[in-house]
Amino acid sequence: MADQQALTELAKRRGFFFGANEAYGGTAGFYTFGPEGAALKRNVEAAWREQFTHRLGNEEIEAPTVMPEPVFEASGHLDGFDDMLIECAECGESHRADHLIEDAVEDIEDAEALGVDRVEELIGDHDLVCPTCGAALADEPVEDFNLMFETSIGPGAGQPGYLRPETAQGIFVEFPRLKEYARGQLPFGVTQIGAAYRNEISPRRGIVRVREFTQAELEQFIDPEADEPPLEDVADVKVTLYPASEQNADDGDYIETTIGDAVDEEIIESPWVAYFLGVAQGWYEAVGVDMNRFRFRQHLAGERAHYAADCWDAESEVDGDWIEIAGFAYRGDYDLSKHDEYGDDSFTVFKRYDEPKTVERAAVDPDMSVLGPEFGGDAAAVAEALETLAERDPDAFDGETVAVDVDGETREVDADVANFSVEEVTESGEHITPHVVEPSFGVGRTVQTLLAHAYSEDEVDGESRTYLSLEPEVAPQDAAVFPLVTNDDRLTALADEVAADLRAAGLAVAYDDSGSIGRRYRRQDEVGTPFCVTVDRDGIEGDGPDTVTLRERDSAAQVRIPVAALADELTALREGEPFASVADRYDAVDTDVETAGN
Ligand code: GAP
Repeated sequence: MADQQALTELAKRRGFFFGANEAYGGTAGFYTFGPEGAALKRNVEAAWREQFTHRLGNEEIEAPTVMPEPVFEASGHLDGFDDMLIECAECGESHRADHLIEDAVEDIEDAEALGVDRVEELIGDHDLVCPTCGAALADEPVEDFNLMFETSIGPGAGQPGYLRPETAQGIFVEFPRLKEYARGQLPFGVTQIGAAYRNEISPRRGIVRVREFTQAELEQFIDPEADEPPLEDVADVKVTLYPASEQNADDGDYIETTIGDAVDEEIIESPWVAYFLGVAQGWYEAVGVDMNRFRFRQHLAGERAHYAADCWDAESEVDGDWIEIAGFAYRGDYDLSKHDEYGDDSFTVFKRYDEPKTVERAAVDPDMSVLGPEFGGDAAAVAEALETLAERDPDAFDGETVAVDVDGETREVDADVANFSVEEVTESGEHITPHVVEPSFGVGRTVQTLLAHAYSEDEVDGESRTYLSLEPEVAPQDAAVFPLVTNDDRLTALADEVAADLRAAGLAVAYDDSGSIGRRYRRQDEVGTPFCVTVDRDGIEGDGPDTVTLRERDSAAQVRIPVAALADELTALREGEPFASVADRYDAVDTDVETAGN
């Protein structure tokens, strides 16, 4: 098992990721993915897209990362997207006040739920000090700090805008068009993979808490009255659940169950959330998360985001700590209702009834020739208020006069002037605001988890080695090609040709001809390359077709395989065929002979 330091060191040395802008002193919370890391991240995104966009039959979009201020007024991020900040007067360092409490006070796991005043009080009660310089924090104020990065759109004063703190908002604001592409039919899902930005108070643990990160999100739009998920597809999936009730209980424990039972026993309230937990569990397992270091934890009441009615996190264990790698929120109609209220377009869908319905509809037809002279410039507002009142409270028109409120002032209108009537109308449907269920994945945290769970150490040929046991589907390289020696033109020419052919077949192939063959294997083991192909003299000297050795990373086992079969076999291996079944078709190689290089 890797500790954080070993992993960070490997990530830097082998080009997975490293702090950005180091030539300028570095910028906390920003990381660059190097060649291996960028490839691994891309493969994780491709695997996510395959599952959550293609297999689930959803559509993917790509929206801008900068959005104007009114979007975030509507979404609630301007008011509610805060963390608790405390600054040290001595050294100037900023800290998450709630995290200081959670680290110091044993039985508080969710200090954010306690509120700013209580956290400030607790910092004093427990005589907490600055983790950076040791100065007392007791007299320092705790404040809400908005996590959004502000910017200005256009020159000069411009229009205030923000870097999106979640990719989700780019999907919600485009809902009026997206529903047209879905032909107004619920349920439908829209995905997006892209950058999100949060000005985290104290970025930490490498790429786990950063200020720019990639999210992969699915917004599933449903009719809560009618749409059900295909729960039968995941009913038997076994999961480890940690519901809020167990977290709150003194002797609380995990619940090992199935998705189907968790819904039947109402451990997971929303069948849609349960469905996505089942799909996610299968996906995480397929890309290489160790299921013994994985759980779903329900948010405690005070922990939920401002938009969420219920939320479960996927968590993975990394270096002794649980980290949140995805959230599965039931957002209800929060987002679409808000954008409907603040935006210019309609964020509802028309739900057609099976049979048209005849209903009584109260209406008014105010006499403007009376309202005009009486209310002047407010006449239209009075008429509108009468219409709203008729829909909401028809009984209000029973008396001789009707009172309506316009801009905080009560206006009295003769009932005759309102021309109130109740008509029978036939309706073919109604406008409803869809509910949203949202699986939201952090790509960087998935990468971190895969590296931590794949990190392995063993001994090969009497030497200790470190290797990353990454799944072929996500490993940065599909294979590496080596000429056994570099002083033989025939060997190097064939190795070049093999690498070119494999690349032409769509495989990601590294080529390495420097150092001993043992060192080249170790280098590829450390970046998780699942298969190494070595071109040696034995393979080209006989009468038959040219052959090479194919070595599997974890077992270090090798087989001799014709060059002509290589691309097909490696493609099958990348797609999940076990090495043992490929190896059965070829002769095993004595590894002592093959590791002797130049
Ligand atoms: N749209 C919902 C949403 O944004 P979230 O729980 O705030 O929900 C979703 O974020 C996921 O994004 C998290 O589970 C985590 O994997 C990732 N994430 C959030 N903040 C992050 C940060 N500062 N650094 C890296 N990943 C982060």
